[in-house]
Amino acid sequence: MKKELVVSAIENGTVIDHIPSNAVYQVIRLLGLEKYEDEVLIGTNLKSEKLLRKGIIKIKNKYFTNQEINKIALVAPAATLIKIENYEVIDKREVEIPDHIENFVKCMNPKCVTNNEVVPTRFNVVDKSDLKLRCHYCEKITTKETMRFTE
Ligand code: CTP
Ligand code: ZN
Repeated sequence: MKKELVVSAIENGTVIDHIPSNAVYQVIRLLGLEKYEDEVLIGTNLKSEKLLRKGIIKIKNKYFTNQEINKIALVAPAATLIKIENYEVIDKREVEIPDHIENFVKCMNPKCVTNNEVVPTRFNVVDKSDLKLRCHYCEKITTKETMRFTE
């Protein structure tokens, strides 16, 4: 039986696998991949065993920082991060929602100091399965539904 990758293999870089199909473009935006100048391969609505339909993003010559991995985890908590070197899988891990989040999520409270002065946001993650972030400053809860990202 002939077996092919739907999205072709990459030589070096990172594969973000098992992204919910509807989160693929959000991940791209959050990571600023629209401006990335090397090859980016994108697949959406691919058949998968784990998810009904999954998305995948392959980024040539790119390895993500912890802060970038935190961003992926917030919008695609079941994603797998795969490091590729010389066409080989050298590392594979699930992303993880962190205990604390700084800078990139906006507080949902318009009166919060972070929305009115130049103060970076800080949250404690109080619920990881049903995402709830408690603002360090105003203590209001930002949820998946009210979550917006800075810049
Ligand atoms: N991959 C890639 N380029 C490579 C090697 C692998 O893009 N040079 C991708 C594959 O397409 C796959 C992922 O990296 O999406 C993981 O590769 P591998 O572990 O070989 O695949 P599977 O065993 O099918 O992974 P899983 O069962 O976890 O989906
Ligand atoms: Zn706040």
